[in-house]
Amino acid sequence: MKVKVKKGRIDRVKDQAIILSHFEDEKRLSGLVKAIDDRLSGMISRLLRNKDFAGRLGETAIVYPQGKFPTPRIILAGLGKREEFGSPGQVGIYLDRIRQASASACRKAKELRIKSFSSAVFPANQKGINPVEVSQAMVEGILLSHYQMDRYKTKKEKQSLEGFTIVEENADRIVAIENGAASGEVFAQATNLARDLANHPANFLTPTRLSLEAKKLARENDLRCKILSLPQIRKLKMDLFTAVSSGSSQPPKLIVLEYRFAGRLPGQKKPDTLALVGKGITFDAGGLSLKTTELMQEMKTDMTGGAVVMSVLAASAKLRLPLNLIGIIPAAENLPSGSALKIGDIITSHSGKTVEILNTDAEGRLILADALSYAKSFKPDAVLDIATLTGAIKIALGTICAGVFGNHDDLKVKMIQAGQKAGERVWELPLWDDYQEFIRSDLADIRNVGGKPGGAIIAARFLKNFVGDHPWVHVDIAGVDFSEKERPYVPKGATGFGARLLLHFLRKWDGVLPKR
Ligand code: BES
Ligand code: ZN
Ligand code: ZN
Repeated sequence: MKVKVKKGRIDRVKDQAIILSHFEDEKRLSGLVKAIDDRLSGMISRLLRNKDFAGRLGETAIVYPQGKFPTPRIILAGLGKREEFGSPGQVGIYLDRIRQASASACRKAKELRIKSFSSAVFPANQKGINPVEVSQAMVEGILLSHYQMDRYKTKKEKQSLEGFTIVEENADRIVAIENGAASGEVFAQATNLARDLANHPANFLTPTRLSLEAKKLARENDLRCKILSLPQIRKLKMDLFTAVSSGSSQPPKLIVLEYRFAGRLPGQKKPDTLALVGKGITFDAGGLSLKTTELMQEMKTDMTGGAVVMSVLAASAKLRLPLNLIGIIPAAENLPSGSALKIGDIITSHSGKTVEILNTDAEGRLILADALSYAKSFKPDAVLDIATLTGAIKIALGTICAGVFGNHDDLKVKMIQAGQKAGERVWELPLWDDYQEFIRSDLADIRNVGGKPGGAIIAARFLKNFVGDHPWVHVDIAGVDFSEKERPYVPKGATGFGARLLLHFLRKWDGVLPKR
């Protein structure tokens, strides 16, 4: 979909529809909306008075100006109550409301089967709002709500909507809005790419296919890309990773993508290097600890962490972030078979620590342990990992936010703030030493499971044993990677959660503070 920014007045635009936003229950109109309403002989205020449109968040209504304006229709988009909108100090709240309201307006435009619409950045008349962030949120809301996966439908529904324009009257704000809109496009594309990858069924998206997609992304975005095959993974001694993959006839792939900042930093400073590790299980049957059919239905999206890392590297290149990034995605299938990993097996990890496997369905932590330990060889300034790691995180936090863990307060705080800006929130859980005793093994250095209570914490604690001293944050997205229901800018199915979260985090990157 084409995104344009144009100087002009929204009431003079000739597009197939224009969008006006409105706060809930505000009967008295002001500014441009009032001027438009006056010229429409009070059509908008009549709608409000009759309670046919209140302005609830996500609500829309259509007004037909019948020749009084160049546009044939006005779409009203509700923003919810002004007092709940959030102040500039609570940026995350209003950015998400803008995303939701613009997404709902876009859905209405799609329903009307129009080709294009225009909107000013909203809300009008709200002080202290940053036009860069607001236009980014608007573009995200529209592009994210427009997402559709029809690759496997033989009859494709024809999409009529081809583009939209942000119209701005004030010449001084145009550049800011253009910048915000450009970021919005890159951020939304990253999420939509992660959704696409995760929505593919596992018979198409095998580890090999995922690695080919990584190569394609690398070509398109000038990234370095290395795909390590089974013999090379064996040579690296990533035996936990190969053990997980051993039940499948599909070979594992270790995908390594690199983005290097090409510009110069002030004072000849070298850019920081961050390693991003993403779980890439293209199908998780559980292995010999077999899941039920129902639980397996979501398990083609068990590579969402990997997909997020891939799309974040591509987007970082597009945004020319002043960083060096290493994306590491261990990709494999977790299946039961005669050659599969068995319960009780003891495997030596890449780090040298031995692991007793007491549940083969806790495979994500095994492949991540090796990948996190391998990440050290790149001498990163910090390491992030993102994974659909535990059903327990869904029990703890529901489907509203992801869990965040780590060994470094500053990084955790930055991740929480990034989540608020992205509308992809994360909530911290503890990682205290007390949890280590649950994964003590009688025979090996550590075991891979430690009972149900605190399951997400135990999984994160397991990872900590393979991380080393560098600053590290772990994001568990198992509760949020898949949506059972449609929301304004989140479709049913794969959500791509994490791509915009990590991009906000990386864009704000300003080095590592000493540990507190
Ligand atoms: N991929 C699953 C976690 C998951 C669950 C993701 C639900 C998305 C939705 C992971 O590999 C897994 O199976 N974890 C087990 C761990 C347990 C055996 C300790 C779980 O959560 O049941
Ligand atoms: Zn599993
Ligand atoms: Zn899994």
